[in-house]
Amino acid sequence: MEIGILISGRGSNMVALVDAVASGEIPASEVAVVISDKADAAGLAKAEERGVETLVIERKGRKREEHDAEIVAALKDRGVEIVCLAGYMRLLSPMFVRAFPDRIINIHPSLLPAYPGLNVHERVIAAGEKRSGCTVHYVDELLDHGEVILQREVPVLPDDTPETLSARILEQEHGAYVEAVKKILTRERARSEQREIEYGFSARH
Ligand code: GAR
Repeated sequence: MEIGILISGRGSNMVALVDAVASGEIPASEVAVVISDKADAAGLAKAEERGVETLVIERKGRKREEHDAEIVAALKDRGVEIVCLAGYMRLLSPMFVRAFPDRIINIHPSLLPAYPGLNVHERVIAAGEKRSGCTVHYVDELLDHGEVILQREVPVLPDDTPETLSARILEQEHGAYVEAVKKILTRERARSEQREIEYGFSARH
């Protein structure tokens, strides 16, 4: 399975996925490309150090559809089947979502559907929540929205700052994202085996 990863910044979730593919923890897969919508994303150098192709497709001053069309073309050119958003901070257009049905996933640092969007940890602490966490989910056209694949919870401690809470959740994010990708790759392989069985059956009858 060819995986494409989209980033906008630090890229620690991207690194977790790239390393899990390289070690075989995510089996029989390859990270075909890491694409950033920002030229100064720190994650780009981390992907290059790991020998992964990187591309910058800047969003600045462009319409969403036009920007997305260029990203979709780059992913398709490389045979990408699964798209992982890893701190990619732009909503996808309907065209992008339709180009990879059920094959785009995202990670978000809250227990969705609670706290989509930005400044999550500030809002969680201000609301006096006792628990928070992260969610890996399928992507649709809405912000941080779509069927949940898995979640991991952490406690919110009385003296937490947005930074300490963010760090506790990020530690869980990396493992959660690897686990979610393994889960959907298993499902995709089962689907493609099923299609082969059905194709073989219809070819014989
Ligand atoms: C992560 O915490 C991720 O969950 C969040 O951005 C951070 C990216 O960090 N994503 C969102 O908020 C999506 N709405 P990273 O670049 O180190 O992976």
